[in-house]
Amino acid sequence: MGELRDLLRKSGYSEKAADFYLNRVNVGELSDANAYAIYTGPCGDTMEFFLKVEDSTIRDASFQAIGCAGSFAAGAAFVELIRGKTLEEAERVEEDRVVEFLGTIPVQKIHCACLAKRTLRKALAAYRGVPFQLPECKKVEEAW
Ligand code: FES
Repeated sequence: MGELRDLLRKSGYSEKAADFYLNRVNVGELSDANAYAIYTGPCGDTMEFFLKVEDSTIRDASFQAIGCAGSFAAGAAFVELIRGKTLEEAERVEEDRVVEFLGTIPVQKIHCACLAKRTLRKALAAYRGVPFQLPECKKVEEAW
């Protein structure tokens, strides 16, 4: 495990991002979820988001991914950032907030945060019963 952590650090992942990936933080199905979405991004990786919503507030959330270390770090960060927040607040979380929360991730992995953002937005749209509108990914320059 130590070697993998070193490799992640050398690639540009913060300690927190490496922890989230190595410990699979916030990964798994939420048995009492009342909102769900699955989305496959242009990179070919897939994410699922599970939300437990009550009174327009996200009481709990989790995710699963078939993806890279960046997708696990970003998915975990999104869950941390939206838990306890209103639907509107959750909808406003963008890639730059996630990168800021994580510390650093490799620049070429910011699109993985977009995979998480899109999957989350799709789950929020499903909860509201409205059509999912694919949000734009932030450009790398904008995200830093
Ligand atoms: Fe696809 Fe990271 S490369 S989510």
